[in-house]
Amino acid sequence: MSDLTVELTAPNGRKYTQPTGLFINNEWVKGKKGDKITSINPTDESEICAVHAAEAEDVDAAVAAARKAFKGEWRDMASTERGNLMYKLSALVEEHKETLATIETWDNGKPYQVALNEDLAEVAGALKYYAGYADKIHGQVIDTTPAKLAYTIREPLGVCGQIIPWNYPLAMAAWKLGPALACGNTIVLKAAEQTPLSILYFANLIKEAGFPPGVVNILNGHGRVAGAAIASHLDVDKIAFTGSTATGREIMKMAAINMKNITLETGGKSPLLVFEDADLDQAVKWAHIGIMSNMGQICTATSRILVQESVYDSFIEQFKKHMQATSTVGNPFEDATFQGPQVTKAQYERVLSYIEAGKAEGASLAAGGEPYKNANGKGFFIAPTIFTDVKDSMRIFKEEVFGPFVVISSFKTEEEAVERANNTTYGLGSAVFTQNITKAHRVARKIEAGMVWINSSNDSDFRIPFGGVKQSGIGRELGEAGLEAYTNKKAVHVNLGTVL
Ligand code: NAI
Ligand code: MG
Repeated sequence: MSDLTVELTAPNGRKYTQPTGLFINNEWVKGKKGDKITSINPTDESEICAVHAAEAEDVDAAVAAARKAFKGEWRDMASTERGNLMYKLSALVEEHKETLATIETWDNGKPYQVALNEDLAEVAGALKYYAGYADKIHGQVIDTTPAKLAYTIREPLGVCGQIIPWNYPLAMAAWKLGPALACGNTIVLKAAEQTPLSILYFANLIKEAGFPPGVVNILNGHGRVAGAAIASHLDVDKIAFTGSTATGREIMKMAAINMKNITLETGGKSPLLVFEDADLDQAVKWAHIGIMSNMGQICTATSRILVQESVYDSFIEQFKKHMQATSTVGNPFEDATFQGPQVTKAQYERVLSYIEAGKAEGASLAAGGEPYKNANGKGFFIAPTIFTDVKDSMRIFKEEVFGPFVVISSFKTEEEAVERANNTTYGLGSAVFTQNITKAHRVARKIEAGMVWINSSNDSDFRIPFGGVKQSGIGRELGEAGLEAYTNKKAVHVNLGTVL
């Protein structure tokens, strides 16, 4: 198997064994056709290593393994035992978190302290949270007449395809694996081609935790090849996806082939409203986190800031000052770094193209607006960028940029603020800053979004439902709501006395 692993030393000096194959049926195998994906370090543009990329035949093998596992011992395993395997996996993640965070930072470019203390904590936490649910997923007894006993069984859906993005590679996998496993499903998961490495190391932990072969199968592969093969597979019962709205729409169409159950978590252009009675200092700090963390590569990033006229100028001035003091750009392995590189050259170029669009459309560039050049001139770094005086008709107000890039605009009244916040095809996150509790809750109700943060931004939590309305998605992940996406309710009618 030596050709399915490679010994690596990460930029922080950590040595580890990187698997490079496809993880099917608890075994490492090569792709049948030999396609590969080369993983790039976005900090210096160097190649890290190449991994096997699945094609349709490999997807078939993974789906067959998942189907066999679903019909086998997994299906009949006591739910408490299923939970125990998940607790074990969570503990193994905790044990290996430094290596996992190292790989995440190397491959994705996110600051190591964030990968370790936020992403890996989220992975271990979400798996543990759903482990607890495994033996608490109950049906109901439904009282009708004395002649009938009726009850429901919440049964797993079957083989679930899960397609993961690159912005939180392990965390997005955990959000999907947790509820799917707790409910007793089996899984074929495809990582994003931009960040293929950390999930392969994680796969070994699945085997070590003791999951039966075929319960979790992990593939790398290109979206249009492996992703499409999963989404259109006739023996896959469900597809869960996080990524762009355009790809989400394609997946929905492909999933129609056998009417798969779908959960989609897609794009956003989430508004953050600052009313004149807000604690401005706190609004500035949260607004900065809400768009500038994770290099702005967050689906719920509050990327459109609307500030009430009377505090507009002071908000901008304080935001700039806070950003200059906090958004330290550089090597993600250095503790002082707040912002690493964008994940790929394509994403870097995409953000730069929106900077050009903002300039061409006549918005005022208040900060950034150019690549950030570090010492060796390499890497996909972008100077954190603010556009002000942005109009609703501008592309930079309407489209998801997915970078350290914020647009700020002013409003006069609450009515106008809500109207403009909702003037979007998206509806994922949103934030409201005011000290007036009545106004806060009133506005929260009126905003068309799956989530509203009052006096914070993006402090998501695995115990709380996460998802969007409008073109930001379908269904919910996380919390108890996350279980809905992975169970059927079967109704059983028992005739106790209707005699014909
Ligand atoms: P994408 O949506 O195309 O990719 C996400 C995942 O979908 C990857 O695993 C990819 O391999 C897979 N995929 C792509 N095409 C597919 C297809 N035809 N069938 C099945 N699976 C497919 O996103 P991409 O191109 O990496 O990024 C473009 C933009 O999408 C970003 O700039 C950002 O605006 C948005 N995005 C949003 C994310 C979120 O968290 N909601 C995450 C990643 C990207
Ligand atoms: Mg990479």
